[in-house]
Amino acid sequence: MKFFIDTADIEEIRDLASTGLVDGVTTNPSLIAKSGRNFLEVVAEICEVVDGPVSAECVALDFETMLKEGRKLSKIADNIAVKVPLTEAGLKTCKALSDDGIMVNVTLCFSAAQALLAAKAGATFISPFVGRLDDIGQDGMDLIADVVTIYENYDFATEVLVASIRHPVHVVQAAKMGAGVATLPPKVLRQLFGHPLTDKGLDGFMKDWAATGQSIL
Ligand code: E4P
Repeated sequence: MKFFIDTADIEEIRDLASTGLVDGVTTNPSLIAKSGRNFLEVVAEICEVVDGPVSAECVALDFETMLKEGRKLSKIADNIAVKVPLTEAGLKTCKALSDDGIMVNVTLCFSAAQALLAAKAGATFISPFVGRLDDIGQDGMDLIADVVTIYENYDFATEVLVASIRHPVHVVQAAKMGAGVATLPPKVLRQLFGHPLTDKGLDGFMKDWAATGQSIL
Protein backbone atom coordinates (compact mmCIF):
# COMPACT_ATOMS: atom_id res chain seq x y z
CA MET A 1 0.00 0.00 0.00
CA LYS A 2 1.31 3.44 -0.89
CA PHE A 3 1.19 6.30 1.62
CA PHE A 4 0.60 9.83 0.37
CA ILE A 5 0.51 12.75 2.79
CA ASP A 6 -2.40 15.13 2.69
CA THR A 7 -0.88 18.56 3.30
CA ALA A 8 0.72 21.55 1.60
CA ASP A 9 2.93 22.27 4.60
CA ILE A 10 6.42 21.98 3.12
CA GLU A 11 8.17 21.55 6.48
CA GLU A 12 5.86 18.64 7.40
CA ILE A 13 6.47 17.13 3.96
CA ARG A 14 10.27 17.41 4.30
CA ASP A 15 10.18 15.91 7.78
CA LEU A 16 7.94 12.97 6.88
CA ALA A 17 9.67 12.35 3.52
CA SER A 18 12.91 11.81 5.47
CA THR A 19 11.35 8.63 6.96
CA GLY A 20 11.33 7.06 3.49
CA LEU A 21 7.66 6.14 3.99
CA VAL A 22 6.08 8.83 1.80
CA ASP A 23 5.11 7.79 -1.74
CA GLY A 24 3.33 10.98 -2.78
CA VAL A 25 1.44 14.09 -1.65
CA THR A 26 -2.11 15.34 -2.07
CA THR A 27 -3.14 18.97 -1.81
CA ASN A 28 -6.47 20.70 -2.25
CA PRO A 29 -7.52 24.38 -2.32
CA SER A 30 -8.25 24.36 1.43
CA LEU A 31 -4.80 22.95 2.25
CA ILE A 32 -3.16 25.52 -0.04
CA ALA A 33 -5.08 28.31 1.73
CA LYS A 34 -3.98 26.91 5.09
CA SER A 35 -0.30 26.91 3.98
CA GLY A 36 -0.49 30.64 3.22
CA ARG A 37 1.81 30.02 0.24
CA ASN A 38 1.53 30.76 -3.49
CA PHE A 39 -0.10 27.68 -5.06
CA LEU A 40 2.20 27.21 -8.06
CA GLU A 41 5.35 27.88 -6.01
CA VAL A 42 4.54 25.56 -3.14
CA VAL A 43 3.50 22.73 -5.47
CA ALA A 44 6.75 23.07 -7.43
CA GLU A 45 8.67 22.89 -4.16
CA ILE A 46 6.76 19.79 -3.04
CA CYS A 47 7.56 18.11 -6.38
CA GLU A 48 11.27 18.60 -5.67
CA VAL A 49 11.03 17.02 -2.23
CA VAL A 50 8.90 13.99 -3.16
CA ASP A 51 9.51 11.80 -6.22
CA GLY A 52 6.03 10.24 -6.32
CA PRO A 53 2.76 11.78 -7.52
CA VAL A 54 1.89 15.24 -6.17
CA SER A 55 -1.77 16.17 -6.62
CA ALA A 56 -2.55 19.78 -7.58
CA GLU A 57 -6.21 20.68 -7.93
CA CYS A 58 -7.94 22.66 -10.68
CA VAL A 59 -10.34 25.33 -9.44
CA ALA A 60 -12.34 26.13 -12.60
CA LEU A 61 -15.75 24.48 -12.81
CA ASP A 62 -16.19 24.51 -16.63
CA PHE A 63 -14.48 22.05 -18.97
CA GLU A 64 -12.52 24.49 -21.17
CA THR A 65 -10.98 26.45 -18.29
CA MET A 66 -10.39 23.33 -16.20
CA LEU A 67 -8.52 21.74 -19.09
CA LYS A 68 -6.33 24.83 -19.47
CA GLU A 69 -5.61 24.82 -15.75
CA GLY A 70 -4.85 21.10 -15.81
CA ARG A 71 -2.42 21.47 -18.70
CA LYS A 72 -0.67 24.35 -16.92
CA LEU A 73 -0.42 22.42 -13.64
CA SER A 74 0.92 19.34 -15.44
CA LYS A 75 3.87 21.38 -16.70
CA ILE A 76 5.10 22.17 -13.18
CA ALA A 77 6.89 18.80 -12.93
CA ASP A 78 6.77 15.26 -14.29
CA ASN A 79 5.28 13.94 -11.05
CA ILE A 80 2.21 16.20 -11.00
CA ALA A 81 -1.17 14.47 -10.82
CA VAL A 82 -3.83 16.95 -11.89
CA LYS A 83 -6.77 16.83 -9.50
CA VAL A 84 -10.26 17.38 -10.87
CA PRO A 85 -13.64 17.20 -9.11
CA LEU A 86 -16.06 14.38 -9.78
CA THR A 87 -18.41 16.40 -12.01
CA GLU A 88 -19.27 16.06 -15.68
CA ALA A 89 -16.74 18.78 -16.56
CA GLY A 90 -14.19 17.14 -14.25
CA LEU A 91 -14.50 13.76 -15.95
CA LYS A 92 -14.32 15.31 -19.43
CA THR A 93 -11.12 17.01 -18.30
CA CYS A 94 -9.88 13.72 -16.83
CA LYS A 95 -10.41 11.94 -20.16
CA ALA A 96 -8.66 14.65 -22.16
CA LEU A 97 -5.66 14.86 -19.81
CA SER A 98 -5.26 11.11 -19.38
CA ASP A 99 -5.42 10.68 -23.18
CA ASP A 100 -2.39 13.02 -23.23
CA GLY A 101 -0.54 10.78 -20.74
CA ILE A 102 -1.04 13.13 -17.77
CA MET A 103 -1.78 11.60 -14.34
CA VAL A 104 -5.23 12.57 -13.05
CA ASN A 105 -6.66 12.27 -9.53
CA VAL A 106 -10.47 12.49 -9.48
CA THR A 107 -11.52 13.94 -6.14
CA LEU A 108 -14.71 14.42 -4.10
CA CYS A 109 -15.98 10.90 -4.86
CA PHE A 110 -18.85 9.79 -2.62
CA SER A 111 -20.45 6.87 -4.50
CA ALA A 112 -19.44 3.66 -6.27
CA ALA A 113 -21.24 4.86 -9.41
CA GLN A 114 -19.06 7.98 -9.46
CA ALA A 115 -15.94 5.82 -9.03
CA LEU A 116 -17.00 3.64 -11.97
CA LEU A 117 -17.32 6.72 -14.19
CA ALA A 118 -13.89 8.00 -13.12
CA ALA A 119 -12.24 4.70 -14.06
CA LYS A 120 -13.95 4.76 -17.45
CA ALA A 121 -12.65 8.33 -17.91
CA GLY A 122 -9.10 7.03 -17.47
CA ALA A 123 -8.38 8.38 -13.98
CA THR A 124 -5.01 7.42 -12.52
CA PHE A 125 -6.46 7.77 -9.00
CA ILE A 126 -9.98 7.92 -7.59
CA SER A 127 -10.32 9.66 -4.23
CA PRO A 128 -13.33 8.47 -2.20
CA PHE A 129 -13.68 10.62 0.95
CA VAL A 130 -14.29 8.24 3.85
CA GLY A 131 -14.24 10.70 6.76
CA ARG A 132 -16.79 13.05 5.21
CA LEU A 133 -19.16 10.09 4.63
CA ASP A 134 -18.70 9.00 8.26
CA ASP A 135 -19.53 12.59 9.27
CA ILE A 136 -23.02 12.32 7.71
CA GLY A 137 -23.74 8.92 9.30
CA GLN A 138 -22.70 6.64 6.42
CA ASP A 139 -19.84 4.15 6.60
CA GLY A 140 -17.10 5.55 4.36
CA MET A 141 -15.25 2.24 4.38
CA ASP A 142 -18.24 0.47 2.76
CA LEU A 143 -17.62 2.68 -0.26
CA ILE A 144 -13.96 1.63 -0.40
CA ALA A 145 -14.95 -2.05 -0.32
CA ASP A 146 -17.40 -1.48 -3.21
CA VAL A 147 -14.93 0.46 -5.34
CA VAL A 148 -12.14 -2.10 -4.81
CA THR A 149 -14.53 -4.90 -5.87
CA ILE A 150 -15.79 -3.05 -8.95
CA TYR A 151 -12.28 -2.14 -10.12
CA GLU A 152 -11.13 -5.75 -9.64
CA ASN A 153 -14.16 -7.07 -11.56
CA TYR A 154 -13.17 -5.11 -14.64
CA ASP A 155 -9.39 -4.91 -14.18
CA PHE A 156 -9.44 -1.12 -14.18
CA ALA A 157 -5.96 0.38 -13.82
CA THR A 158 -7.32 3.27 -11.71
CA GLU A 159 -5.87 3.17 -8.18
CA VAL A 160 -8.15 3.57 -5.16
CA LEU A 161 -6.75 6.48 -3.15
CA VAL A 162 -8.52 6.51 0.21
CA ALA A 163 -8.99 10.17 1.19
CA SER A 164 -10.44 12.16 4.09
CA ILE A 165 -8.80 9.73 6.50
CA ARG A 166 -9.30 10.68 10.14
CA HIS A 167 -7.57 7.96 12.19
CA PRO A 168 -5.33 4.86 11.99
CA VAL A 169 -8.33 2.48 11.91
CA HIS A 170 -9.29 3.90 8.50
CA VAL A 171 -5.76 3.08 7.28
CA VAL A 172 -5.81 -0.51 8.53
CA GLN A 173 -9.31 -1.13 7.13
CA ALA A 174 -8.26 0.31 3.76
CA ALA A 175 -5.18 -1.95 3.72
CA LYS A 176 -7.29 -5.02 4.55
CA MET A 177 -9.58 -4.17 1.64
CA GLY A 178 -6.62 -3.91 -0.73
CA ALA A 179 -6.87 -0.19 -1.55
CA GLY A 180 -3.74 0.87 -3.42
CA VAL A 181 -3.12 4.22 -1.71
CA ALA A 182 -4.08 6.06 1.47
CA THR A 183 -3.54 9.80 1.80
CA LEU A 184 -2.88 10.60 5.43
CA PRO A 185 -2.89 13.86 7.34
CA PRO A 186 0.61 14.14 8.93
CA LYS A 187 -0.89 13.57 12.38
CA VAL A 188 -2.38 10.21 11.33
CA LEU A 189 0.88 9.06 9.74
CA ARG A 190 2.68 9.84 13.02
CA GLN A 191 -0.03 8.01 14.99
CA LEU A 192 0.72 4.84 12.99
CA PHE A 193 4.17 4.57 14.62
CA GLY A 194 2.88 4.50 18.15
CA HIS A 195 1.78 1.79 20.56
CA PRO A 196 1.81 2.11 24.37
CA LEU A 197 3.36 -1.37 24.70
CA THR A 198 6.22 -0.32 22.40
CA ASP A 199 6.89 2.68 24.70
CA LYS A 200 6.62 0.55 27.84
CA GLY A 201 8.83 -2.21 26.42
CA LEU A 202 11.47 0.28 25.29
CA ASP A 203 11.47 1.89 28.73
CA GLY A 204 12.17 -1.46 30.35
CA PHE A 205 14.93 -2.36 27.89
CA MET A 206 16.63 1.03 28.37
CA LYS A 207 16.60 0.73 32.18
CA ASP A 208 18.05 -2.81 32.06
CA TRP A 209 20.66 -1.79 29.48
CA ALA A 210 21.77 1.21 31.56
CA ALA A 211 22.28 -1.17 34.51
CA THR A 212 24.82 -3.21 32.48
CA GLY A 213 27.07 -0.13 32.16
CA GLN A 214 27.93 -1.13 28.58
CA SER A 215 27.82 0.82 25.28
CA ILE A 216 27.66 -0.37 21.68
CA LEU A 217 29.76 2.38 20.05
C1 E4P B 1 -7.41 14.44 -0.39
O1 E4P B 1 -7.07 14.44 -1.53
C2 E4P B 1 -8.55 15.22 0.12
O2 E4P B 1 -8.53 16.51 -0.37
C3 E4P B 1 -8.56 15.18 1.61
O3 E4P B 1 -8.22 13.89 2.07
C4 E4P B 1 -9.83 15.70 2.23
O4 E4P B 1 -9.81 15.47 3.62
P1 E4P B 1 -10.81 16.19 4.64
O5 E4P B 1 -12.17 15.61 4.48
O6 E4P B 1 -10.22 15.89 5.99
O7 E4P B 1 -10.79 17.65 4.30
